[in-house]
Amino acid sequence: MNKSYDVIIIGGGVNGCSIAYYLALEGRSVLLLEREKLACKASSAAAGMLGAQVEVTEEGALFDLAKESRGMFPSLQYELKEHSGIDIELVQKGMLKLAMNDEEAGHLKRTISFQQKLGERAEWLAREQVAEREGQLSDSLLGAMDIPMDGHVNPERLTHAFANSAVKHGAEVKEYVEVYSLLREKKTVKGVETSIGMFYGEHVVVAAGAWSKRLLSECGVTVPAYPVKGECFSVITDRPLLSSTIFSESCYLVPKSGNRLVIGATMIPDTFSENVTVGGLYQLMEEAARVLPAVKYATFERFWSGIRPQTGDGHPYLGQHPTYKNLVIATGHYRNGILLSPITGKLVTKIIQDDPIPVYMEAFKLDRLKEYARGE
Ligand code: FAD
Ligand code: GLY
Repeated sequence: MNKSYDVIIIGGGVNGCSIAYYLALEGRSVLLLEREKLACKASSAAAGMLGAQVEVTEEGALFDLAKESRGMFPSLQYELKEHSGIDIELVQKGMLKLAMNDEEAGHLKRTISFQQKLGERAEWLAREQVAEREGQLSDSLLGAMDIPMDGHVNPERLTHAFANSAVKHGAEVKEYVEVYSLLREKKTVKGVETSIGMFYGEHVVVAAGAWSKRLLSECGVTVPAYPVKGECFSVITDRPLLSSTIFSESCYLVPKSGNRLVIGATMIPDTFSENVTVGGLYQLMEEAARVLPAVKYATFERFWSGIRPQTGDGHPYLGQHPTYKNLVIATGHYRNGILLSPITGKLVTKIIQDDPIPVYMEAFKLDRLKEYARGE
């Protein structure tokens, strides 16, 4: 098997599929390889929050990237619906980030202040104002940061919408094909060796989430990265308990269609095990009931987990490998891979086409890893 492509993408999560979509839109011949099913890992475990302001609490390139990506969703929902027929279930009803004590209130007020200075909408609500908005929340909270622009989507649908739209524009997607290694020759990657044979490409993109490091290190490319497991569960209620997404220091509650609440998530570093523990669920249930007491009467639906890809410095790796220039790495999206998926697809497409990229996005280049990254 020796068909050649412009770009081979390894990994059928939300980021691999977004990259396939934006490249296919540009007329590139694309092959996406996924070792199981599309969206079988973190991209279906996610709660789907587009938490640019709730998750990124410091000024800098990551905040800018997150805002830019969030801003792509309103038009993207129609674009993907038109190409794929899939509704990504974008909900734009805002988020409330709760303060349960003085320390959290102080921290939120500082976050509000820097975000307002940068022109973002964010406001402090006192306890009574929060109660007016969300009558079921605990009255022991002190107040909340109101974030009207952060919303959420259905992450699994988003991944399939990207993939189907890519296929509509000529991309090939192969499930149940595992990439074993990158085929290297001098300072170039020529293609990949897989469970069904070799494929050759002008460019290869590693978008294998938390498994990217393992794949890269097998061929002498080292990047600092580690997995962080997250456990979640969902419940169904008789009537809607919340309208906005609620985010507290140790849990979040995301209201989905059908009176379903997705409640997450634990943070367990350095494991690829996807088991869900009693201790993990107990911790989440306790915290959820502290924030939203009525959740105790909800009907338990299901539980699951996923593995987040974290990096050494908390910023994703989005760029060419310092040695193998036609090898592009797109991983390390950690808690925000759903939010960052559209901009990841756009940025990787620009890198591959050698188009200019906005200066602030250089912060995600792998050159920052000179002391770690090595090629043979
Ligand atoms: P993945 O979705 O992990 O996809 C990587 C794919 O690569 C997998 O399908 C895997 O099978 C495949 N693969 C690996 N190795 C190979 C190989 N050798 N050959 C072929 N295929 C291979 N983000 C948000 O923005 N909002 C949220 O609300 C949110 N909530 C989350 C909640 C939880 C519980 C978790 C765990 C994560 C959450 N995240 C959230 C983070 C988000 O899910 C991830 O950052 C994102 O899904 C990463 O996507 P990815 O495509 O990079 O990786
Ligand atoms: N962004 C939510 C999570 O990773 O759990």
